[in-house]
Amino acid sequence: MTDLMTDTTTTARPASVADLTLDEKASLTSGASFWYTKPIVRAGIPAIMVTDGPHGLRKQREGGDHLGLGDSVPATCFPPAVALGSSWDVDLVHRVGEALGTETSIENVAVLLGPGINIKRSPLCGRNFEYLSEDPIVSGVLGAAIVKGIQSKGVGTSLKHFAANNQENDRMRSSSDVDARPLREIYLRGFQRVVEDAQPWTVMCSYNRINGVYASEDPWLLTQVLRDEWGFEGLVVSDWGAVNERVPSIAAGMDLEMPSSNGATDAQLVAAVQEGSLDESVLDVAAGRVLDLVRKAEAGAGAVEGPLDVDAHHALAREAAGRSIVLLKNALRGPQGPALLPLAKDARIAVIGEFAEKPRYQGAGSSMINPTRLDSALDEIRALATGEVAYARGFSNALSVDADEVAALREEAVGAASVADVAVVFLGLPARLESEGFDRDDIDLPAEQLALLDAVLAANPNTVVVLSNGGVVALPFAERVPAILEAWLLGQAGGGATADVLFGDVNPSAKLTETIPLRLEDTPAYLDFPGEFQHVRYGEGLFVGYRWYDARRMDVAFPFGHGLSYTTFAYGDAAATVTASGDIAVTVTVTNTGDRAGREIVQVYTSLPGGTVQRPVRELKTFASVALEPGETREVALTVRRQDLAYWDIRADRWVVEGGAYAVEVGASSRDIRSSASVDVEGDALQLPLSRSSSMAEVMAHPVVGPVVQAAMAQMMAGMEGLDAIMPEGADASKMMDSFPLGRVGMFAAGGEGGVTPEMIDGLIAMGNAPQQ
Ligand code: BGC
Repeated sequence: MTDLMTDTTTTARPASVADLTLDEKASLTSGASFWYTKPIVRAGIPAIMVTDGPHGLRKQREGGDHLGLGDSVPATCFPPAVALGSSWDVDLVHRVGEALGTETSIENVAVLLGPGINIKRSPLCGRNFEYLSEDPIVSGVLGAAIVKGIQSKGVGTSLKHFAANNQENDRMRSSSDVDARPLREIYLRGFQRVVEDAQPWTVMCSYNRINGVYASEDPWLLTQVLRDEWGFEGLVVSDWGAVNERVPSIAAGMDLEMPSSNGATDAQLVAAVQEGSLDESVLDVAAGRVLDLVRKAEAGAGAVEGPLDVDAHHALAREAAGRSIVLLKNALRGPQGPALLPLAKDARIAVIGEFAEKPRYQGAGSSMINPTRLDSALDEIRALATGEVAYARGFSNALSVDADEVAALREEAVGAASVADVAVVFLGLPARLESEGFDRDDIDLPAEQLALLDAVLAANPNTVVVLSNGGVVALPFAERVPAILEAWLLGQAGGGATADVLFGDVNPSAKLTETIPLRLEDTPAYLDFPGEFQHVRYGEGLFVGYRWYDARRMDVAFPFGHGLSYTTFAYGDAAATVTASGDIAVTVTVTNTGDRAGREIVQVYTSLPGGTVQRPVRELKTFASVALEPGETREVALTVRRQDLAYWDIRADRWVVEGGAYAVEVGASSRDIRSSASVDVEGDALQLPLSRSSSMAEVMAHPVVGPVVQAAMAQMMAGMEGLDAIMPEGADASKMMDSFPLGRVGMFAAGGEGGVTPEMIDGLIAMGNAPQQ
């Protein structure tokens, strides 16, 4: 198979799929191989190449597999989503997107298979390193920035994995059983944002089922929601091997099956059309979308000329990695300080831990990049330091290590730490513990590493921990260790970035896009993960991530949105007003009160105290990354989109903004709110039709019928002297009535003067449902 454009002839091009035979149309809708679509040489339709993704280009040299087994062309390994997301920086993420697009274009690949924006429902998901956040606004806003960046270079993206694919366990069969509100408000919201704001060329449907229906054959998901509601204009591609039955999948809106079925499913489509069980127009639509994708790819081909500027992209990867490292903790060395970090360049440093020498910089599976180069933190610390830098391996990541070796490694590390000014201990998850394709069993660091840390701490209290992990880990040592850097998996230039942050050449500014819990047992999905017998119930509902910990007032190790800097920031009073378009405009001044330049990530949360539907205590709605010189003050202006205030109303089956006084909280983290304002928001009109099963509370709230019924009720209650005798003193008798269905009122208040007849009830319903003038 050849690259884009090279497998064509110069025959006249069809204006549309109308020029193609049935067989040709069917053939367009499945892959030729792992990474190519099928060409139709006769009609001048070339094959195009699509490939992983997401944080670098994994273009396999020949043959192909989707598990990262085969060799691929060297490409820049940018920080995986777990890290890049922690930057909370739309501009930076867009620039990384542009670089990814550049590399994709230079290699003649039409579509880069990313970004992945699934919600981190449980820290156990083996693929969390490929995802951005536990929050849909972070995922949606940053996901859109990546898509725009990549697509600005004339190549496409594949927004994945659509949808509710939040675990790897049994991923090809399991049904994510999730209620309408969390599905819309948590799991689909980010996808909606990316589709509406950035129009990815393709969306990749996931392997799993949603409420019993395979994503790949769900017309509600792929057509009603994605296209009719959100206005998606591109093509839906299957995850590799996600098609269960080809005929229902194409009817549902799943256009391109990948990889190749060697023609088997094409033949099924042809047969279904011939025997009349599939309307040919359905096939025409799917084939037309593949054709559109090919045309877009042709138009964009060659937008960037090679060769790749390896140095420039490595430098960008280093910058992005530096902006992705979260300073979790930085205690003072003594009562007077200074803080342990940043390190002095002439300090005597003991670097400890195998990850310093052999970095874990990306996760395993289909996203594995063959990097153009690879920095180690040890080399880069040595490159920047002017003092003595000793190294001890500390522990081994090998599968089996004998007790003598463990003791010897530990002893060597303690020796190095005890003669150093500071020990920098690199801990993390061995690669075998997290990957695409399976989930983790726990969130613990290996016991051997924790024991090493204790020994080093005893030898030298000035100890910094640097973590390398794709999914969050428990930090039982957080109280005892003075400084902790969460360095995630940082991509190929992570070693240099870590050195930059340790020495203060880069002032850390990243913040957590997911909560670090104290214990696995505290996590929201703990009792419902990974499910059983091919079903996983999303029992925590809306309460994912910080929404859970806040609602239950639980302590966490480090909260969502947390991250420190080597400087400090002061916030002024926030102001919030509703704009003409109905959005909320928020302003707040932020001052850099320290003595070095830094960046603050300003976060805006809202809530609606006393609202009528269940809601989290606070929900992130917007954020901004602001660079400030020492002493500088800036007014930061942020916009909360009106649509992001909406909840999904299950009665009306649509988004509804409830009116009321919204609390707008501006903070440095979800648990460090610096200033609040209140703003009155006018609600959406929502008048549900009245029926016999409407509750009396609903009837009484009705603008037309309500006053009539309220007056009648007052009269009726006044006549019911006996009621007082059976109600406890002080109880509000009307509360008892609130949930009473209108249609049954007659049974209790029927007959006699002032009684309620079925005709009267029907009359009220008709009055309420009559078109309003
Ligand atoms: C993964 C996708 C990936 C595809 C192609 C699948 O197993 O879930 O994320 O893009 O393979 O490699």
